[in-house]
Amino acid sequence: MDARQEYPIGIFDSGIGGLTVATAISKVLPDEQLVYFGDTAHLPYGDKSLGLIQEYSIKIAKFLIEVKNCKAIVIACNTASAAAYSFLRDELKGKLPVINVIDPMVEFVIQNPNIHHVGIIATKTTIASGVYQEKLSRRKSDLIYSTLATPLLAPMIEEGFIHNSISQSVLHEYLGHHELQDIDSLVLACTHYPLIKKEISDYYQDKILILDSAEIVAAKLKMIMQKEQLLNNNKIHKEHQFYVSDLTTSFQETTKVFYGQRIALREKKL
Ligand code: DGL
Repeated sequence: MDARQEYPIGIFDSGIGGLTVATAISKVLPDEQLVYFGDTAHLPYGDKSLGLIQEYSIKIAKFLIEVKNCKAIVIACNTASAAAYSFLRDELKGKLPVINVIDPMVEFVIQNPNIHHVGIIATKTTIASGVYQEKLSRRKSDLIYSTLATPLLAPMIEEGFIHNSISQSVLHEYLGHHELQDIDSLVLACTHYPLIKKEISDYYQDKILILDSAEIVAAKLKMIMQKEQLLNNNKIHKEHQFYVSDLTTSFQETTKVFYGQRIALREKKL
């Protein structure tokens, strides 16, 4: 048996939005221990430069690998996936698998024969990076895609403004934008957005496909772990661990929104 099988899986995000991905992973891989890191000291990543996000990402990956002994890294943040995935993959080549949230979604979109015109909403940095646009057009040249930066959504969700008049009016403004007309599907390309998936579906009266990456990424991770023979076969349950780079009461409270239950956050300065 490979000793690494019992090591944890490392997951990181700019903050606690990535807990939506952690939730999906813990459902698909219930025997795995997860170590989550939210870089709350540097949140939001959504309007930071690519270079700075790469710098933060490598520090987080080092903590997860060197201190926490993780056997795989999941970048549970669209912005960090757009800015730092290739960089991290190259840095960690041959050491351990690195999974991002963009490639599994791109794969899903290009393989769905019913998707002809896809909309993508995300942070400013994710949209400006052009990563989704480049990957989709390279893989399926006749696919039409439309993108829109929706920077108000992540802070709005984090502050708990969901299912109320403020979220309704922000969503109407964004989703009514001319860029997003005539789409048949919409990618929620930010880890916070699954929390408003229902409101978005309601806006479109359930007529278009709304895609969030949490489950798609969890399924992809399971496949990779199987292929690499890294799945934990030991049924002894180890508690998940949750770290943030800046611990405040507000972050502690918000975890309930993203993880469905209260979790004890620990602080680890970067
Ligand atoms: N987690 C980020 C993402 O998925 C959103 C929050 C941020 O801007 O840091 O893009």
